[in-house]
Amino acid sequence: MRVAVDVGYGFTKAVSGSGGRACFPSVAAPHRGDVLGVAEVVGIGRVGHRVSVRYLDARREEHLVGEAARESFLASGFLGAEKPENLHNLLLLAGVYLVGGGSTGQFPEPLELAVGLPLAFYRSQGKALRERLLRLKAWVSVDGGEERCVSFSRVLVLPQGVGVVFHQGLPEGRGYAGVLDIGEYTTDYLLVDLETGKPLAEACGSVQAGCHLVGHVVSVAWLQATGEPLPPRLLPGVLKDLAEGGRTVFRGRELDLSLAYRTALEQAAETIARQVLSVWKDLTSRLAVTYLAGGGSLLLGDALAGRFPNPVLVSDPVFANALAYLEALDGSR
Ligand SMILES: Nc1ncnc2c1ncn2[C@@H]1O[C@H](COP(=O)(O)OP(=O)(O)OP(=O)(O)O)[C@@H](O)[C@H]1O
Ligand SMILES: [Mg+2]
Repeated sequence: MRVAVDVGYGFTKAVSGSGGRACFPSVAAPHRGDVLGVAEVVGIGRVGHRVSVRYLDARREEHLVGEAARESFLASGFLGAEKPENLHNLLLLAGVYLVGGGSTGQFPEPLELAVGLPLAFYRSQGKALRERLLRLKAWVSVDGGEERCVSFSRVLVLPQGVGVVFHQGLPEGRGYAGVLDIGEYTTDYLLVDLETGKPLAEACGSVQAGCHLVGHVVSVAWLQATGEPLPPRLLPGVLKDLAEGGRTVFRGRELDLSLAYRTALEQAAETIARQVLSVWKDLTSRLAVTYLAGGGSLLLGDALAGRFPNPVLVSDPVFANALAYLEALDGSR
């Protein structure tokens, strides 16, 4: 079985050769069980995914992963550029399981896996990541399902963003195609020469700017409007409210942050555009098309569209990387 997982700073996206799909926030928290003892009576609110992992060395871990973990005081997500091995493994294993990967029985069948790395880290970390994942083996169960063994017979590590353009297909013509993969903390960008079909090395890379900038601006606006800082674990809920109409709730009253929200989108788009365009410089004049991918293209696409020539939103932008990785697994056999 073939699986591809895009473990992003914000969201983990997984797809399988048989059409399975999963997407959840890249956040985990220790699972403390039904602490109130009321689950049987009233159920529990957003349980999300309960992931149990048993490693070869008998280590056993129980975690909440995704939406439910966000609400925990003990939630941890990716903070810096590095993705700690434990959290990365946990999110990867949960993604693989949720798209149907892993097998039961005495002689479990290993999977073929494709994952990605931001362009900026591809060269320095690609080989080590591949070797680490080839050694990974664990028994996984999600949401109380059957325990399945997950291990990999083949691991392909690919540079983020590069596959998106090939999955999308390049247009005929002259000049360059630009690609922006706008994520939570990073935006990967590349330029592909339409005549040779090859990326231009000096015009490809990653900048540390993405959708999280919107949250920063909104948090400042919240502080100004309410006189209190916005606790980080409330931010996703507030952003969801604002996306639906610019209003949220604060201590029993409606809080209109629509202007601040629109400003936040514009400022985030401006920061990303400025950083990418400062690398592309004069090459920008020969852009035939700019492809927008990644979840951030849904949030910031409109604001970015006016800042790049001939912007085109790729199909299925959130899963674009994961689908491209899966395709690469087929192509490189
Ligand atoms: N349907 C949607 N509508 C609006 N915004 C969306 C939608 N889906 C995702 N997003 C935005 O995209 C962001 C996540 O994008 P994505 O999953 O590409 O990031 P990531 O890959 O986890 O991050 P990175 O590439 O930095 O590692 C979310 O924080 C959200 O702001
Ligand atoms: Mg991403």
